[in-house]
Amino acid sequence: MKIDWILDLPLSEPLMLKMQRAADQCPLEEGIHLPCAVSVRVCDDEAIRLVNAAQRGLNRATDVLSFPSVTWPAGKTAGACEALLRSEYDDDLDACFLGDILISLPHAEAQATEYGHSLAREVTYLLVHGLCHLMGYDHIREEDKTVMRKMEEQILAAVDMDRDQIPSSAPDTNHIPAAFTPDQELIARAKEAKHFSYSPYSHFRVGAALRSADGRIFTGCNIENAAYSPSICAERTALFKAVSEGIHDFESIAIVADEPAWPCGVCRQALSEFAPALRVLIEDKEGNIVESPLSELLPAAFGPDSFEH
Ligand code: THU
Repeated sequence: MKIDWILDLPLSEPLMLKMQRAADQCPLEEGIHLPCAVSVRVCDDEAIRLVNAAQRGLNRATDVLSFPSVTWPAGKTAGACEALLRSEYDDDLDACFLGDILISLPHAEAQATEYGHSLAREVTYLLVHGLCHLMGYDHIREEDKTVMRKMEEQILAAVDMDRDQIPSSAPDTNHIPAAFTPDQELIARAKEAKHFSYSPYSHFRVGAALRSADGRIFTGCNIENAAYSPSICAERTALFKAVSEGIHDFESIAIVADEPAWPCGVCRQALSEFAPALRVLIEDKEGNIVESPLSELLPAAFGPDSFEH
């Protein structure tokens, strides 16, 4: 799910990653086979009140508002209406635009305290709730509400964010400096970079984050081209950005794609030129970080020392 974030109020990176994961799960649970996008604005009570008043004639703040771009046929949701969903395909986004969601952060914070769970759980729930609305779910009638709640729980459970799994003592992750290990941070940066992937031909989004020996991080995404061959992988985008800024020594690279994937052969060769001992990190399907030295991914590599200059 491509999320166009509008952050009137800041959200911590771990919190955004949790929300992104839950959002990614929505089309999967719904059985949508097209790339989707959504705009998510995180704002204060005053901003959400203004939108609520202007759009719905309700002059009060609320926790979440959603504005679907599609009017789904009665009794149907997005997964069952592929043609209708396809009509929302947006060339610039390279995805089907589902609509807009507003979340009031102060409301979410108050509700998290009230319900005794973490802010992460609350904002993720609100996002999933909004996304379910955008996919055609509703809770006005009791029978629809049961179906919507079931879908929400299914999505949250799939990303380990269902009620039972979040103890009430779980820390609030927002505004707390990221307690990430350097490798987790690199993976997180690769995920961010993946959002910028330009992949209208393969629809395979890839992000990479390359850590230089002096601790800087260079990110890259895959960038495709109508003529195909000028396309470039995420890893080389990151590498070439770094080299073009005079950096030649690298410690590790993290790669995040729509499916876990190790670098292609060309990228292995390009990276090996500068960092044959590079640590290559990917995230497996369970969210674990898996590591391999580049020297094992490209054994007996041809390199700068392989011939007389
Ligand atoms: N891709 C990468 O960005 N990195 C890799 O290591 C493998 C492939 C990209 C290239 C192309 O844009 C898309 O993934 C499908 O091959």
